[in-house]
Amino acid sequence: MKYRHLGKAGLQVSELSLGSWVTFHNQVGIDATVELMAAAYDAGVNFFDNAEIYANGKSEELMGAALRKLGWRRGSYLVSTKLYWGLHDNPNEKNTLNRKYLIESIDGSLQRLGLDYVDLLFCHRADPTTPIEETVRAMHNIVERGKALYWGTSEWEATDIQSAIEIAERHHLHKPVVEQPVFNLFERHRFGPEYQRLYKEYGYGSTTWSPLASGLLTGKYSTGVPEDSRAAVAGYGWLREQLTDAKRLAKVAALQPLAKQMGASLAQFSLAWCLQNPHVSTVLTGASRVEQLRENMQAIEFVDRFTPDITDAIDKIFR
Ligand SMILES: NC(=O)c1ccc[n+]([C@@H]2O[C@H](COP(=O)([O-])OP(=O)(O)OC[C@H]3O[C@@H](n4cnc5c(N)ncnc54)[C@H](OP(=O)(O)O)[C@@H]3O)[C@@H](O)[C@H]2O)c1
Repeated sequence: MKYRHLGKAGLQVSELSLGSWVTFHNQVGIDATVELMAAAYDAGVNFFDNAEIYANGKSEELMGAALRKLGWRRGSYLVSTKLYWGLHDNPNEKNTLNRKYLIESIDGSLQRLGLDYVDLLFCHRADPTTPIEETVRAMHNIVERGKALYWGTSEWEATDIQSAIEIAERHHLHKPVVEQPVFNLFERHRFGPEYQRLYKEYGYGSTTWSPLASGLLTGKYSTGVPEDSRAAVAGYGWLREQLTDAKRLAKVAALQPLAKQMGASLAQFSLAWCLQNPHVSTVLTGASRVEQLRENMQAIEFVDRFTPDITDAIDKIFR
């Protein structure tokens, strides 16, 4: 495993990291969670991503229980969580980044995770109804109280991120240092053109998500929806449509020979494609089985094998 700086920050993250979305609680229980996290850690992964909203808090609980069983030294790993959607259906605790929600919710997350602090705390989405300054000050206070070490944004527009950084600089507050955007062969606009200035001018880091487009970029949906896949999980019917879209499946089929030419599985090829982008700090992977995780960890071996011919062929497929 190699490690990259989180943008300009001093912190280093493993090139591949592990997230818990959909999988923890919905697909795996405590034993499989421990097995997945242990296999990732043994492969050199030092960063584990979570969110308050994942399985309505149960994902944080599972990760916390797994960390207690695993007993790793706290300095050897990083944990993140994300706030925005909220767990309670009332105006001040749902779809918001207001001060009250942020200050109160971090305590709930820490309690579920069984941690004194998270290493990274993300604003899971932007909240156009709360002034950015209110959010920046609340995140600064959370960092000052030692409940998060760094903070960042997820799926914010570049202009809002720039505003948050400038507000923080103007008032000498802790700035956001990292964005968590989607980035895979299908979804690259925001991570690419829109965020260019953030990398260049602010050294913003990135923990990119859904590198396999929820499994589509493994080729496993070419013959329908496997019963044990996330597209078959109750409540994720909306994903099924994306994962069985004929046009997308045709692109996936066209990628197969390119991966084969490289000697990689399609999953490894797709992960390595993300990793070759220098603005990626870490690619957040997901896995519901340890065999998937082991296959995915080997993606790092293919990062240097994207020849101009292969890159041209990819561009033609996605033009
Ligand atoms: N900030 C945000 O808004 C946001 C949004 C989404 C995700 N995230 C983060 O990013 C992490 C990764 O996202 P993701 O889970 O969507 O990643 P992904 O890599 O696109 O999808 C992972 C899923 O693909 C399948 N898979 C993985 N490796 C495979 C392999 N080698 N062969 C066959 N199938 C394989 C598994 O699903 P099956 O169970 O179907 O096999 C696995 O759970 C999340 O856990 C979360 O931490 C953040």
